[in-house]
Amino acid sequence: MKKKQTLSHILTHLGEERDKYFNAISPPIIQSSNFAYKTLDEFRSAFSDELNNHIYTRGNNPTVQILRKKLAALEHAEDCLVFGSGIAAIAAAVMSNVKAGDHIICVEAPYGWINKLLTKYLHRFDVEHTFVDGTDIKHIIAAKKDNTSLLILESPNSITFECQDLKACADFAKSNNIITVIDNSYSSPYYQNPIDFGIDIVAHSGTKYINGHSDVVVGVVCSSKAMIQKIFHSELMNIGSILSPNDASLVIRGLRTLELRVKRSHESAMKIVAYLEKHPMVEQVYYPFSKNFPQYELATRQMRGAGGLFSIKLKVDSIELCEKFFHTLERFLLAVSWGGHESLVIPFCGFYNIPGQEDSSLPFNLFRFYIGLEDPDWLMEDLDKAFAALDG
Ligand SMILES: Cc1ncc(COP(=O)(O)O)c(C=O)c1O
Repeated sequence: MKKKQTLSHILTHLGEERDKYFNAISPPIIQSSNFAYKTLDEFRSAFSDELNNHIYTRGNNPTVQILRKKLAALEHAEDCLVFGSGIAAIAAAVMSNVKAGDHIICVEAPYGWINKLLTKYLHRFDVEHTFVDGTDIKHIIAAKKDNTSLLILESPNSITFECQDLKACADFAKSNNIITVIDNSYSSPYYQNPIDFGIDIVAHSGTKYINGHSDVVVGVVCSSKAMIQKIFHSELMNIGSILSPNDASLVIRGLRTLELRVKRSHESAMKIVAYLEKHPMVEQVYYPFSKNFPQYELATRQMRGAGGLFSIKLKVDSIELCEKFFHTLERFLLAVSWGGHESLVIPFCGFYNIPGQEDSSLPFNLFRFYIGLEDPDWLMEDLDKAFAALDG
C-alpha cells in the first residue's frame, strides 16, 4: 500500500530506507566523496541519470538525497536540490533561466544579495532588470518587455512583509512564457506552498525555519523534474555549491520538528504583536497576520500562518531613544537571520552612522523582531522594561 504523504509522515519517515542501513532510525551520514561500481554496465547506467544515482557527492549523495525527497514533498514539488546556502539556491534558480539579452522583473527591495545579483552581477552578462512594487499585479504587468524571461518574487519580504498575489503572478507569467521564482523563506513550506498557485520554482534560505537551529547554512530549490534537471546540469554541477552530507543530516534532524517550531513561533508572535499594537510607544506594527496589515486579506488567503518574524516602528524621534530601547532589552539577541530557537532583534538605527557607509534607506526607528521558542510572556516582560526605559 502506498504510504500517504501527510506532513508527519514526510518529516519522520519519507525518503528513509532503513532496511538499507541496519534499520537504524537515524539515517547514516554517508561521508564519501565517491561511489564504486561492480560492473561497467552499472557504471554506464548510473551516468545516464547522474541526478538520481550515486556517482560523486557533488552530484548526489545518499544522505543529501533523503533531505531532497522530504523538501520536495513539503513544497508539493516533483523534485528538489539543496545547496550550500540560500543565496546559492536562489542565484542558481535565477541564472539557470536567463541568457544574455534577457530582462528580469523583480519585486522591489528583495533580499540584499538578490539585489546585488541583478544590479552588479547579471548586469555584466547583459541581463537587464526592473524592480517593481509587487503589491499590485498591474505594476508587474506594466514592467513586461518583449525580452522578459523571469519574474522574481519574495512574498512576504523579510523586513516590511509586502506580499504578491501568487495566483495572479503565475497566471500572468504563464500566459507570457515567463518563468516564476519565489523566495519562500519567510513562510517556510509549513505555511505557504507557492507551487499550489502555479509558481514554477520555490527557493528557500533553509538556514531559517527549515533547519531551525541556527547551526547550518543551507539553500533549497523545489520545482518540476525537468527544471531540477536543468539547474542540476548547469549551476549545481558547474558552480558546485553543495550541501555536505553532515550538514544534510543536521537539516533532516532539524526538519523533524518543523511543525512544532514554526507553529510555536507563530503563536508567540501573534500574542506579542497583539501586545505591541496596543502599546502607546509603538507607531506601527508590520505583521502579515495582523488584521491591521494592509494586505491581511491576501496574506491569509495564500498563507496558513506567518511565523515569528515581524517589525515595529517605535514612536520616538531620535536614534538615541532607539538605542536606549535596544540597550534595555536583555532577552533578544542582536543578530541577523531568523528561524532558530532563539529570539532576535535588529534595530535599524544600527545601520546609521556606520563610518564610510550611507545611512540605511529604512527609518531609524524600525526594529525587526524574530520570536523563537522562548516563553512569550518572558519576552514581553523584557519589552515592557525597554518601553519603561523610554520614560526615564
Ligand atoms: C529573505 C532571505 N532570502 C535569502 C537569504 C539568503 O540565505 P542564506 O543566508 O542561507 O544564503 C536570506 C538570508 O538572510 C534571507 O533573509
